[in-house]
Amino acid sequence: MTFTTQDHLMMQKAILLAKQGIYTTAPNPNVGCVLVKDGKIVGEGAHLKAGEPHAEVHALRQAGIKAQGATAYVTLEPCSHYGRTPPCAEGLIKAGVKKVICAMVDPNPQVAGRGLTMLNDAGIETASGLLEADARALNPHFLTRMETGKPFVQLKMAASLDGKTALKNGVSQWITSKEARQDVQRYRAQSGAILSTAKTVIDDNASLNVRWSDLPLSIQKNYQETTIRQPMRFILDRQHALTSDLKLFQASGEIATISPQETHSIVAKEKHLQCRLSDDGQLDLKEVVNKISRDFNVNHIWVEAGATLAASMIKENLVDELIIYLAPKLMGADGRSIINLIGLETMSETIDLDIKDIRMVGKDIRITATIAR
Ligand SMILES: NC(=O)c1ccc[n+]([C@@H]2O[C@H](COP(=O)([O-])OP(=O)(O)OC[C@H]3O[C@@H](n4cnc5c(N)ncnc54)[C@H](OP(=O)(O)O)[C@@H]3O)[C@@H](O)[C@H]2O)c1
Repeated sequence: MTFTTQDHLMMQKAILLAKQGIYTTAPNPNVGCVLVKDGKIVGEGAHLKAGEPHAEVHALRQAGIKAQGATAYVTLEPCSHYGRTPPCAEGLIKAGVKKVICAMVDPNPQVAGRGLTMLNDAGIETASGLLEADARALNPHFLTRMETGKPFVQLKMAASLDGKTALKNGVSQWITSKEARQDVQRYRAQSGAILSTAKTVIDDNASLNVRWSDLPLSIQKNYQETTIRQPMRFILDRQHALTSDLKLFQASGEIATISPQETHSIVAKEKHLQCRLSDDGQLDLKEVVNKISRDFNVNHIWVEAGATLAASMIKENLVDELIIYLAPKLMGADGRSIINLIGLETMSETIDLDIKDIRMVGKDIRITATIAR
Protein backbone atom coordinates (compact mmCIF):
# COMPACT_ATOMS: atom_id res chain seq x y z
CA MET A 1 0.00 0.00 0.00
CA THR A 2 1.26 3.51 -0.76
CA PHE A 3 0.99 6.09 1.97
CA THR A 4 0.23 9.76 1.33
CA THR A 5 2.12 12.80 2.64
CA GLN A 6 -0.77 13.34 5.06
CA ASP A 7 -0.35 9.75 6.30
CA HIS A 8 3.36 10.40 6.94
CA LEU A 9 2.67 13.65 8.80
CA MET A 10 0.03 12.07 11.02
CA MET A 11 2.23 9.07 11.87
CA GLN A 12 5.10 11.46 12.70
CA LYS A 13 2.74 13.20 15.08
CA ALA A 14 1.77 9.85 16.65
CA ILE A 15 5.47 9.00 17.10
CA LEU A 16 6.08 12.34 18.84
CA LEU A 17 3.18 11.64 21.19
CA ALA A 18 4.52 8.16 21.97
CA LYS A 19 7.83 9.70 23.14
CA GLN A 20 6.03 11.25 26.11
CA GLY A 21 6.10 7.87 27.81
CA ILE A 22 9.84 7.19 27.59
CA TYR A 23 10.39 7.51 31.36
CA THR A 24 7.07 6.18 32.57
CA THR A 25 5.58 3.45 30.38
CA ALA A 26 7.85 0.42 30.92
CA PRO A 27 7.36 -2.50 30.89
CA ASN A 28 4.66 -1.53 28.40
CA PRO A 29 5.63 -0.10 25.01
CA ASN A 30 5.55 3.60 24.12
CA VAL A 31 2.60 4.11 21.79
CA GLY A 32 1.01 7.18 20.23
CA CYS A 33 -2.29 7.53 18.36
CA VAL A 34 -3.83 10.26 16.21
CA LEU A 35 -7.42 10.21 14.88
CA VAL A 36 -8.02 12.19 11.70
CA LYS A 37 -11.35 13.07 10.06
CA ASP A 38 -11.80 15.23 6.98
CA GLY A 39 -8.13 16.17 7.13
CA LYS A 40 -8.30 17.39 10.73
CA ILE A 41 -7.01 15.85 13.95
CA VAL A 42 -10.03 15.03 16.12
CA GLY A 43 -8.27 13.05 18.84
CA GLU A 44 -4.78 12.20 20.02
CA GLY A 45 -3.17 10.32 22.87
CA ALA A 46 -0.19 8.44 24.23
CA HIS A 47 0.17 5.46 26.51
CA LEU A 48 1.92 6.78 29.60
CA LYS A 49 1.83 4.05 32.24
CA ALA A 50 1.23 0.31 32.47
CA GLY A 51 -2.32 -0.29 33.73
CA GLU A 52 -3.52 3.09 32.50
CA PRO A 53 -5.42 3.69 29.24
CA HIS A 54 -3.70 2.91 25.97
CA ALA A 55 -3.00 5.62 23.38
CA GLU A 56 -6.07 4.69 21.30
CA VAL A 57 -8.36 5.07 24.33
CA HIS A 58 -7.12 8.61 25.04
CA ALA A 59 -7.54 9.55 21.37
CA LEU A 60 -11.05 8.01 21.15
CA ARG A 61 -12.15 9.77 24.35
CA GLN A 62 -10.95 13.09 22.96
CA ALA A 63 -12.64 12.53 19.61
CA GLY A 64 -15.97 11.35 21.02
CA ILE A 65 -18.58 11.11 18.25
CA LYS A 66 -16.08 12.52 15.73
CA ALA A 67 -14.22 9.18 15.77
CA GLN A 68 -16.95 7.79 13.52
CA GLY A 69 -15.54 7.49 10.02
CA ALA A 70 -12.07 8.69 11.11
CA THR A 71 -8.68 7.21 10.25
CA ALA A 72 -6.56 6.09 13.21
CA TYR A 73 -2.77 6.38 13.01
CA VAL A 74 -1.16 4.19 15.66
CA THR A 75 2.57 3.58 16.18
CA LEU A 76 1.95 -0.06 17.19
CA GLU A 77 -0.77 -2.50 16.13
CA PRO A 78 -3.83 -2.06 18.38
CA CYS A 79 -4.03 -4.80 21.00
CA SER A 80 -6.52 -7.61 20.73
CA HIS A 81 -6.40 -9.13 24.22
CA TYR A 82 -7.88 -8.34 27.61
CA GLY A 83 -5.06 -7.19 29.89
CA ARG A 84 -5.54 -4.60 32.59
CA THR A 85 -7.52 -2.68 29.95
CA PRO A 86 -9.91 -3.98 27.25
CA PRO A 87 -8.61 -4.55 23.68
CA CYS A 88 -8.01 -1.35 21.72
CA ALA A 89 -9.06 -3.02 18.46
CA GLU A 90 -12.49 -3.52 20.02
CA GLY A 91 -12.59 0.15 21.11
CA LEU A 92 -11.78 1.32 17.57
CA ILE A 93 -14.47 -0.96 16.12
CA LYS A 94 -17.10 0.26 18.59
CA ALA A 95 -16.21 3.89 17.87
CA GLY A 96 -16.81 3.30 14.15
CA VAL A 97 -13.40 4.28 12.75
CA LYS A 98 -13.13 3.69 9.01
CA LYS A 99 -9.45 2.90 8.64
CA VAL A 100 -6.46 2.03 10.87
CA ILE A 101 -2.89 2.65 9.79
CA CYS A 102 -0.21 1.36 12.11
CA ALA A 103 3.54 1.70 11.94
CA MET A 104 4.25 -1.90 12.87
CA VAL A 105 2.70 -5.19 13.89
CA ASP A 106 2.99 -5.84 17.64
CA PRO A 107 5.41 -8.78 18.17
CA ASN A 108 3.87 -9.44 21.60
CA PRO A 109 2.73 -13.09 21.26
CA GLN A 110 -0.62 -12.06 22.77
CA VAL A 111 -1.21 -9.74 19.78
CA ALA A 112 1.03 -10.61 16.77
CA GLY A 113 -1.38 -9.66 14.00
CA ARG A 114 -4.59 -10.52 15.85
CA GLY A 115 -5.40 -6.83 16.38
CA LEU A 116 -5.34 -6.21 12.63
CA THR A 117 -7.35 -9.37 11.94
CA MET A 118 -9.98 -8.29 14.45
CA LEU A 119 -10.27 -4.91 12.70
CA ASN A 120 -10.42 -6.50 9.23
CA ASP A 121 -13.08 -8.93 10.39
CA ALA A 122 -15.16 -5.94 11.45
CA GLY A 123 -14.84 -4.47 7.95
CA ILE A 124 -12.22 -1.84 8.85
CA GLU A 125 -9.49 -1.18 6.30
CA THR A 126 -6.00 -1.61 7.76
CA ALA A 127 -2.42 -1.01 6.68
CA SER A 128 0.89 -1.33 8.47
CA GLY A 129 4.55 -0.46 7.89
CA LEU A 130 4.31 3.35 7.78
CA LEU A 131 7.50 4.83 9.35
CA GLU A 132 8.22 1.42 10.86
CA ALA A 133 11.92 2.12 11.56
CA ASP A 134 11.02 5.25 13.57
CA ALA A 135 8.33 3.35 15.45
CA ARG A 136 10.78 0.53 16.26
CA ALA A 137 13.22 3.11 17.66
CA LEU A 138 10.56 4.07 20.24
CA ASN A 139 10.72 0.65 21.88
CA PRO A 140 14.11 -1.07 21.58
CA HIS A 141 13.79 -2.77 24.97
CA PHE A 142 10.18 -3.96 24.62
CA LEU A 143 10.82 -5.22 21.08
CA THR A 144 14.01 -7.09 22.04
CA ARG A 145 12.18 -8.96 24.78
CA MET A 146 9.10 -9.69 22.67
CA GLU A 147 11.15 -10.85 19.67
CA THR A 148 13.92 -12.78 21.44
CA GLY A 149 12.48 -13.59 24.85
CA LYS A 150 15.51 -11.86 26.40
CA PRO A 151 15.77 -8.42 27.99
CA PHE A 152 17.84 -5.62 26.47
CA VAL A 153 21.04 -5.34 28.52
CA GLN A 154 23.09 -2.14 28.60
CA LEU A 155 26.50 -2.13 30.25
CA LYS A 156 27.75 1.22 31.49
CA MET A 157 31.41 1.98 32.15
CA ALA A 158 33.20 5.26 32.80
CA ALA A 159 36.93 5.66 32.34
CA SER A 160 39.73 8.06 31.61
CA LEU A 161 40.96 8.47 28.04
CA ASP A 162 43.65 5.89 28.79
CA GLY A 163 40.94 3.40 29.77
CA LYS A 164 41.28 3.47 33.58
CA THR A 165 38.42 3.38 36.08
CA ALA A 166 40.46 4.00 39.21
CA LEU A 167 43.94 4.85 40.37
CA LYS A 168 46.16 2.02 41.59
CA ASN A 169 44.99 2.72 45.18
CA GLY A 170 41.33 2.39 44.13
CA VAL A 171 40.48 6.12 44.21
CA SER A 172 37.95 6.75 41.44
CA GLN A 173 35.58 9.60 42.29
CA TRP A 174 34.96 11.43 40.08
CA ILE A 175 36.34 10.57 36.70
CA THR A 176 33.55 11.96 34.54
CA SER A 177 31.77 15.31 34.61
CA LYS A 178 28.48 16.23 36.28
CA GLU A 179 26.81 16.15 32.83
CA ALA A 180 27.93 12.55 32.23
CA ARG A 181 26.63 11.54 35.65
CA GLN A 182 23.30 13.23 34.84
CA ASP A 183 23.25 11.27 31.60
CA VAL A 184 23.66 8.08 33.63
CA GLN A 185 20.66 9.12 35.73
CA ARG A 186 18.68 9.46 32.50
CA TYR A 187 19.55 5.88 31.49
CA ARG A 188 18.72 4.60 34.97
CA ALA A 189 15.34 6.34 34.79
CA GLN A 190 14.53 4.57 31.52
CA SER A 191 15.52 1.14 32.74
CA GLY A 192 13.39 -1.50 34.41
CA ALA A 193 16.22 -2.85 36.56
CA ILE A 194 19.71 -1.89 37.63
CA LEU A 195 22.16 -4.75 38.10
CA SER A 196 25.25 -4.30 40.28
CA THR A 197 27.47 -6.14 42.74
CA ALA A 198 27.97 -6.02 46.49
CA LYS A 199 31.61 -5.13 45.72
CA THR A 200 30.65 -1.94 43.87
CA VAL A 201 27.88 -1.03 46.33
CA ILE A 202 30.26 -1.36 49.28
CA ASP A 203 33.31 0.27 47.63
CA ASP A 204 31.33 3.31 46.50
CA ASN A 205 28.55 3.24 49.13
CA ALA A 206 26.40 3.63 46.04
CA SER A 207 22.63 4.26 46.13
CA LEU A 208 22.14 3.27 42.48
CA ASN A 209 18.71 4.90 42.34
CA VAL A 210 17.20 7.70 40.29
CA ARG A 211 17.59 11.08 41.98
CA TRP A 212 15.24 13.76 40.71
CA SER A 213 17.68 16.57 41.52
CA ASP A 214 20.42 14.83 39.50
CA LEU A 215 18.33 14.30 36.36
CA PRO A 216 19.05 16.58 33.40
CA LEU A 217 16.99 19.81 33.41
CA SER A 218 15.29 18.75 30.15
CA ILE A 219 13.63 15.91 32.08
CA GLN A 220 12.84 18.03 35.14
CA LYS A 221 11.07 20.53 32.86
CA ASN A 222 8.93 17.97 31.02
CA TYR A 223 8.05 15.46 33.72
CA GLN A 224 6.84 15.48 37.28
CA GLU A 225 8.96 13.99 40.02
CA THR A 226 6.15 11.65 41.04
CA THR A 227 5.81 10.14 37.55
CA ILE A 228 9.46 9.03 37.29
CA ARG A 229 9.84 5.31 38.06
CA GLN A 230 12.52 3.92 40.37
CA PRO A 231 13.98 0.85 38.68
CA MET A 232 14.43 -2.12 40.98
CA ARG A 233 18.05 -2.56 42.04
CA PHE A 234 19.41 -6.13 41.84
CA ILE A 235 22.65 -6.73 43.72
CA LEU A 236 24.82 -9.84 43.30
CA ASP A 237 25.72 -10.79 46.86
CA ARG A 238 26.96 -14.39 46.81
CA GLN A 239 28.98 -13.89 50.02
CA HIS A 240 26.34 -11.91 51.95
CA ALA A 241 28.62 -8.90 52.21
CA LEU A 242 25.91 -6.21 52.12
CA THR A 243 25.04 -4.56 55.42
CA SER A 244 22.00 -2.53 56.45
CA ASP A 245 23.98 0.68 57.08
CA LEU A 246 24.76 1.11 53.37
CA LYS A 247 23.21 4.06 51.49
CA LEU A 248 21.65 1.56 49.09
CA PHE A 249 19.10 0.65 51.77
CA GLN A 250 18.34 4.26 52.74
CA ALA A 251 17.67 5.48 49.19
CA SER A 252 14.19 5.17 47.69
CA GLY A 253 13.41 2.30 45.34
CA GLU A 254 13.11 -1.45 45.68
CA ILE A 255 16.07 -3.78 46.12
CA ALA A 256 16.56 -7.48 45.45
CA THR A 257 19.65 -9.36 46.54
CA ILE A 258 20.88 -12.25 44.41
CA SER A 259 22.60 -15.26 45.92
CA PRO A 260 22.51 -19.05 45.63
CA GLN A 261 20.69 -19.42 48.94
CA GLU A 262 16.93 -19.71 49.20
CA THR A 263 16.61 -16.68 51.47
CA HIS A 264 18.81 -13.70 52.17
CA SER A 265 17.50 -10.88 54.29
CA ILE A 266 19.40 -7.76 55.28
CA VAL A 267 16.78 -5.19 56.18
CA ALA A 268 13.71 -7.42 55.77
CA LYS A 269 12.13 -5.16 53.15
CA GLU A 270 14.30 -6.24 50.22
CA LYS A 271 13.33 -9.01 47.82
CA HIS A 272 15.52 -11.95 46.94
CA LEU A 273 16.39 -13.82 43.79
CA GLN A 274 17.88 -17.26 44.14
CA CYS A 275 20.29 -18.13 41.32
CA ARG A 276 22.58 -21.10 40.87
CA LEU A 277 26.37 -20.99 40.72
CA SER A 278 28.21 -21.91 37.53
CA ASP A 279 31.19 -24.26 37.36
CA ASP A 280 33.58 -21.39 38.20
CA GLY A 281 31.77 -20.83 41.54
CA GLN A 282 30.34 -17.48 40.43
CA LEU A 283 26.66 -16.69 40.09
CA ASP A 284 25.32 -17.88 36.75
CA LEU A 285 24.76 -14.58 34.96
CA LYS A 286 22.52 -16.04 32.25
CA GLU A 287 20.13 -17.24 34.92
CA VAL A 288 20.42 -13.90 36.74
CA VAL A 289 19.45 -11.95 33.61
CA ASN A 290 16.65 -14.35 32.65
CA LYS A 291 15.15 -14.42 36.12
CA ILE A 292 15.22 -10.62 36.51
CA SER A 293 13.35 -10.31 33.23
CA ARG A 294 10.91 -13.18 33.73
CA ASP A 295 10.13 -12.93 37.45
CA PHE A 296 10.01 -9.12 37.58
CA ASN A 297 8.65 -8.37 34.08
CA VAL A 298 11.70 -6.34 33.03
CA ASN A 299 12.51 -5.42 29.42
CA HIS A 300 15.66 -3.38 30.08
CA ILE A 301 18.54 -4.06 32.46
CA TRP A 302 21.12 -1.33 33.10
CA VAL A 303 24.36 -2.84 34.43
CA GLU A 304 26.46 -0.55 36.57
CA ALA A 305 29.30 -2.37 38.31
CA GLY A 306 33.04 -2.78 38.09
CA ALA A 307 35.49 -4.21 35.58
CA THR A 308 35.08 -7.81 36.81
CA LEU A 309 31.36 -8.09 36.24
CA ALA A 310 31.72 -6.17 32.96
CA ALA A 311 34.17 -8.79 31.66
CA SER A 312 31.93 -11.69 32.74
CA MET A 313 28.85 -10.14 31.15
CA ILE A 314 30.71 -9.68 27.86
CA LYS A 315 32.24 -13.18 27.94
CA GLU A 316 28.80 -14.66 28.60
CA ASN A 317 27.48 -12.80 25.57
CA LEU A 318 24.86 -11.02 27.65
CA VAL A 319 25.47 -7.43 26.60
CA ASP A 320 23.33 -5.81 23.91
CA GLU A 321 24.90 -2.37 24.14
CA LEU A 322 27.88 -0.77 25.86
CA ILE A 323 27.60 2.83 27.04
CA ILE A 324 31.12 4.06 27.66
CA TYR A 325 31.97 7.51 29.02
CA LEU A 326 35.56 8.62 28.43
CA ALA A 327 36.83 11.58 30.42
CA PRO A 328 39.60 13.85 29.10
CA LYS A 329 42.02 12.61 31.78
CA LEU A 330 45.03 10.32 31.92
CA MET A 331 45.17 8.11 35.00
CA GLY A 332 48.38 6.23 34.41
CA ALA A 333 49.48 2.75 33.43
CA ASP A 334 49.13 1.38 36.97
CA GLY A 335 45.47 2.41 37.18
CA ARG A 336 42.65 -0.17 37.06
CA SER A 337 41.38 -1.17 33.65
CA ILE A 338 37.90 -0.48 32.37
CA ILE A 339 37.11 -4.13 31.66
CA ASN A 340 38.90 -7.04 33.33
CA LEU A 341 39.47 -9.13 30.24
CA ILE A 342 42.73 -10.92 30.79
CA GLY A 343 44.86 -13.62 29.22
CA LEU A 344 44.09 -12.82 25.60
CA GLU A 345 47.02 -13.98 23.47
CA THR A 346 45.97 -13.77 19.85
CA MET A 347 44.21 -11.01 17.95
CA SER A 348 41.45 -13.47 17.13
CA GLU A 349 40.58 -13.59 20.84
CA THR A 350 40.09 -9.84 21.10
CA ILE A 351 36.54 -8.54 21.21
CA ASP A 352 35.55 -6.31 18.32
CA LEU A 353 33.00 -3.58 18.85
CA ASP A 354 30.75 -1.80 16.40
CA ILE A 355 30.44 1.86 17.31
CA LYS A 356 26.85 3.04 16.88
CA ASP A 357 27.13 6.59 18.20
CA ILE A 358 29.72 9.00 19.60
CA ARG A 359 28.87 12.32 21.19
CA MET A 360 30.09 14.81 23.74
CA VAL A 361 28.32 14.86 27.09
CA GLY A 362 29.66 17.85 28.96
CA LYS A 363 33.40 17.55 28.48
CA ASP A 364 33.31 13.76 28.23
CA ILE A 365 32.82 11.49 25.23
CA ARG A 366 29.96 9.02 25.26
CA ILE A 367 30.38 5.98 23.03
CA THR A 368 27.49 3.65 22.29
CA ALA A 369 28.73 0.34 20.93
CA THR A 370 27.63 -3.22 20.34
CA ILE A 371 29.73 -6.34 20.27
CA ALA A 372 30.53 -7.34 16.70
CA ARG A 373 29.36 -10.90 16.14
N1 LIG B 1 33.93 3.11 36.13
C1 LIG B 1 32.70 2.70 36.26
O1 LIG B 1 31.86 2.94 35.39
C2 LIG B 1 32.33 1.94 37.48
C3 LIG B 1 30.99 1.60 37.69
C4 LIG B 1 30.67 0.90 38.85
C5 LIG B 1 31.69 0.54 39.72
N2 LIG B 1 32.97 0.92 39.48
C6 LIG B 1 34.03 0.59 40.40
O2 LIG B 1 34.32 -0.77 40.27
C7 LIG B 1 34.92 -1.20 41.48
C8 LIG B 1 34.57 -2.64 41.70
O3 LIG B 1 35.00 -3.34 40.58
P1 LIG B 1 35.39 -4.85 40.70
O4 LIG B 1 35.83 -5.29 39.36
O5 LIG B 1 36.31 -5.02 41.86
O6 LIG B 1 34.03 -5.53 41.14
P2 LIG B 1 32.63 -5.70 40.39
O7 LIG B 1 32.83 -5.98 38.96
O8 LIG B 1 31.70 -4.59 40.77
O9 LIG B 1 32.10 -6.98 41.13
C9 LIG B 1 32.80 -8.17 41.02
C10 LIG B 1 32.20 -9.16 41.95
O10 LIG B 1 30.90 -9.50 41.50
C11 LIG B 1 30.60 -10.79 41.97
N3 LIG B 1 30.09 -11.66 40.93
C12 LIG B 1 29.01 -12.44 41.04
N4 LIG B 1 28.82 -13.17 39.97
C13 LIG B 1 29.80 -12.85 39.12
C14 LIG B 1 30.17 -13.34 37.86
N5 LIG B 1 29.45 -14.28 37.24
N6 LIG B 1 31.25 -12.84 37.29
C15 LIG B 1 31.97 -11.89 37.90
N7 LIG B 1 31.69 -11.40 39.12
C16 LIG B 1 30.61 -11.89 39.73
C17 LIG B 1 31.89 -11.39 42.50
O11 LIG B 1 31.83 -11.29 43.91
P3 LIG B 1 31.68 -12.62 44.78
O12 LIG B 1 32.90 -13.40 44.52
O13 LIG B 1 31.51 -12.10 46.14
O14 LIG B 1 30.46 -13.31 44.25
C18 LIG B 1 32.94 -10.45 41.99
O15 LIG B 1 34.06 -10.34 42.82
C19 LIG B 1 34.36 -0.32 42.55
O16 LIG B 1 35.42 0.20 43.30
C20 LIG B 1 33.64 0.79 41.83
O17 LIG B 1 34.08 2.04 42.22
C21 LIG B 1 33.30 1.59 38.38
